[in-house]
Amino acid sequence: MSLLELDGVNAYYGNSHVLFDLSMTVEENEIVVLLGRNGAGKTTTLRSIVGTVPRRTGRIRYRGTDIVGESVDRISNMGIKLVPERRRVFPTLTVHENLLVAHDACDDPRDVEEMYGIFPALDDHRENRGRNLSGGEQQMLSVARALVQDPDLLLLDEPTEGLAPVIVDDLREVLGQVVREDVTVVLTEQNVAFSFELAERAYIIEKGSTVYEGTIDELRSREDLLEEYLSVSVAESAD
Ligand SMILES: Nc1ncnc2c1ncn2[C@@H]1O[C@H](COP(=O)(O)OP(=O)(O)OP(=O)(O)O)[C@@H](O)[C@H]1O
Ligand SMILES: [Mg+2]
Repeated sequence: MSLLELDGVNAYYGNSHVLFDLSMTVEENEIVVLLGRNGAGKTTTLRSIVGTVPRRTGRIRYRGTDIVGESVDRISNMGIKLVPERRRVFPTLTVHENLLVAHDACDDPRDVEEMYGIFPALDDHRENRGRNLSGGEQQMLSVARALVQDPDLLLLDEPTEGLAPVIVDDLREVLGQVVREDVTVVLTEQNVAFSFELAERAYIIEKGSTVYEGTIDELRSREDLLEEYLSVSVAESAD
């Protein structure tokens, strides 16, 4: 049984139909990236999984259980956490308080101190308020807030957006470690180089449907797809 299985998923914002019979599977402990142009439906796919899209139909099975009819809270309690685009940390709370809020909102959380071990950059800023953190620190804090809730499946929406290259390297290292600790990761990315280094498998989403599924190794050699769906020149994806 796959950890997560989307089968014929359709999603809507009001009258606007944006996912069309989208299907994908995620196996335990893999890192899967969803690629595709702006507006292709990547964020909506993640929101469909956690139940925050206004309406979706089809089957979404998590550990074999259909979660389409479940509430957002129930899906969260089942161990699926989404770190949304544009990091949402509490600006007036300190790093430590931000972590405690997430910790206390969860029935079976991890120890907050463990997060400082995984994110040493946060350890240096325990008493700093969210609004005074750099973009990179805010992103680390967003991921740490999700991770302290001990997810089995971590969904990350464009985690590298707006981050300096050196922070992107740190983030890649942290996410590699997270997966070694038995967390499965699905992320969306515009940064193709980052996703190629981190992920094992990719889906390309175009106009609300998956148009490609395969390993990163295979996708690297598919210049046609990179150009057609991601507008990436071959030279760019080679580094
Ligand atoms: N809240 C909303 N209300 C109405 N339409 C929306 C809403 N959010 C997204 N859409 C539309 O749904 C489609 C898919 O958007 P989505 O945000 O999932 O794409 P995306 O692949 O994540 O794009 P990006 O790379 O820009 O983040 C787009 O046409 C978008 O305009
Ligand atoms: Mg998006």
